[in-house]
Amino acid sequence: MRDLSLHVLDLVQNSLAAQATEIEITIDEDLDRNLLTLCVRDNGRGMSKEQCAAALDPFYTTRTTRKVGLGLPLIKAAAERAGGQLQIQSQLGLGTTVTATFQHDHLDRAPIGDMSLTLMSIIALNEECQFTYRHRRGKREFAISSAELRQELEGLPLDHPQITAWLREYVREQEKSLEV
Ligand SMILES: Nc1ncnc2c1ncn2[C@@H]1O[C@H](COP(=O)(O)OP(=O)(O)O)[C@@H](O)[C@H]1O
Ligand SMILES: [Mg+2]
Repeated sequence: MRDLSLHVLDLVQNSLAAQATEIEITIDEDLDRNLLTLCVRDNGRGMSKEQCAAALDPFYTTRTTRKVGLGLPLIKAAAERAGGQLQIQSQLGLGTTVTATFQHDHLDRAPIGDMSLTLMSIIALNEECQFTYRHRRGKREFAISSAELRQELEGLPLDHPQITAWLREYVREQEKSLEV
């Protein structure tokens, strides 16, 4: 079973490959409705209806380095295994929203995993892209954006080792504080 944080990495990779400059990642744990929703929205090149349908076929990919794409079919399978589903909304030229739902307490629902590592990697490695991350759990919420980080760091590079270490620790603490 793959952690959801690794699926997030996959989805963000897709958005970057589609030339997105803005990517929004949302995790919503609605404990009252026993529902976990994971959503990645981008302003990349988007897909036609046909491409959207094809994207769920493991043998469809527009990448040229390997003949099978597996990201989306794997996430779809993970969602369905946990009583949820995967939805792709996309418009050519405008962007794509991928939403996966999971029954929160389902035995086969993958753990969220290490979001601090996922966020640190994508923020540090893609300085030209704007990321927003929001994680709600019940009544608590943690949000962070690369724009806000850049402002606070006043020009220090987001891939500086001290900054990435700090960012990782900060996200780890904030994520942990959602649990209590
Ligand atoms: N956010 C996105 N924007 C535009 N196209 C996308 C996006 N996500 C997926 N796709 C399309 O769907 C295909 C399949 O995606 P995926 O299952 O992750 O496999 P892979 O990334 O290995 O190709 C991609 O090759 C791409 O053409
Ligand atoms: Mg992919």
